[in-house]
Amino acid sequence: MILVTGATGKVGGQVVSQLLDAGVAVRALTRDPASATLPEGAEVVRGDLADPATLDGALDGVESVFLVWPTLSADHAAPATVERIAGHARGVVYLSSQGVPDPAPGVPEEDPNSILGSHALVERLIERSGLEWTFLRPGGFAANTLMWAPQIRDTGVVRWVHGAAARALIHERDIAAAGVSVLTGTGHAGARYALSGPEVLTQVEQVTAIGQAIGRPVRWEDLPPETALRGLLDQGWPPAAAQEMIGAYAQMAVSPEPVTPTVEELTGRPATPFRQWASDHADDFR
Ligand SMILES: NC(=O)c1ccc[n+]([C@@H]2O[C@H](COP(=O)([O-])OP(=O)(O)OC[C@H]3O[C@@H](n4cnc5c(N)ncnc54)[C@H](OP(=O)(O)O)[C@@H]3O)[C@@H](O)[C@H]2O)c1
Repeated sequence: MILVTGATGKVGGQVVSQLLDAGVAVRALTRDPASATLPEGAEVVRGDLADPATLDGALDGVESVFLVWPTLSADHAAPATVERIAGHARGVVYLSSQGVPDPAPGVPEEDPNSILGSHALVERLIERSGLEWTFLRPGGFAANTLMWAPQIRDTGVVRWVHGAAARALIHERDIAAAGVSVLTGTGHAGARYALSGPEVLTQVEQVTAIGQAIGRPVRWEDLPPETALRGLLDQGWPPAAAQEMIGAYAQMAVSPEPVTPTVEELTGRPATPFRQWASDHADDFR
């Protein structure tokens, strides 16, 4: 039995489906089973990663956990939650992030209020937990571009920072396939896998690809960083995380995200191009 957290989300949802397709017994965690839409065949359980006491039932009889962590919002509970998982399961595959530094003497810790700091915290706790672990460290999700969907639907123009920022965006299906390959295979203990899509595209090129997928042109307009920052803060983003996000786009304009061969190495199939992701999700932008 494998417990999948974030099971109603983009990556966890794919992990649930792909494990079921592979004939593996799956338990899917959600805070609200009544409103969750999950594939038939998954055992749906209630639990809150921010409240470790709610997890015992979900963890009972589980061999491994695919852990999607609610970045920052549950960090106060991370030590107790990881301890709880280690009290029940043998192994964990943790959905971490590109950019988390490997532990080494002299490497400074990330700001605990940042997204990378949250992932680094969970990685360190897992490393010390006694669990057999594997970390998946993807770069940008292709699905991040869904944040542009309302603008594309309403105006056909995307206003956001640093059109020249270049990313090797990854399909959620590929992250999940890498995770399923680790969960169902052997020899992955202690690995930190950097995952990416197959190619680097600037944000302007991503928007063009979305336009091609939906059959009408979409235009890019650069937004000043301070305006974008204000927008994130207005949406309730913690200031450190919002600044980290805008800073990351500035950085990617001069230093594109790297392409890694890991998806193909783990799954035997090349990573999916962004154009295919855009075509898979065209209806979300129409
Ligand atoms: N976006 C990127 O470019 C990127 C890159 C690298 C890493 N990541 C990491 O990927 C993860 C997000 O994955 P995703 O995009 O697949 O998720 P998502 O689609 O945003 O879904 C979030 C999931 O988290 C669950 N959740 C939220 N709070 C919870 C809590 N307190 N207890 C239990 N479950 C909770 C939700 O389940 P319910 O609402 O059903 O409870 C939902 O299934 C984050 O850790 C993020 O930092 C993202």
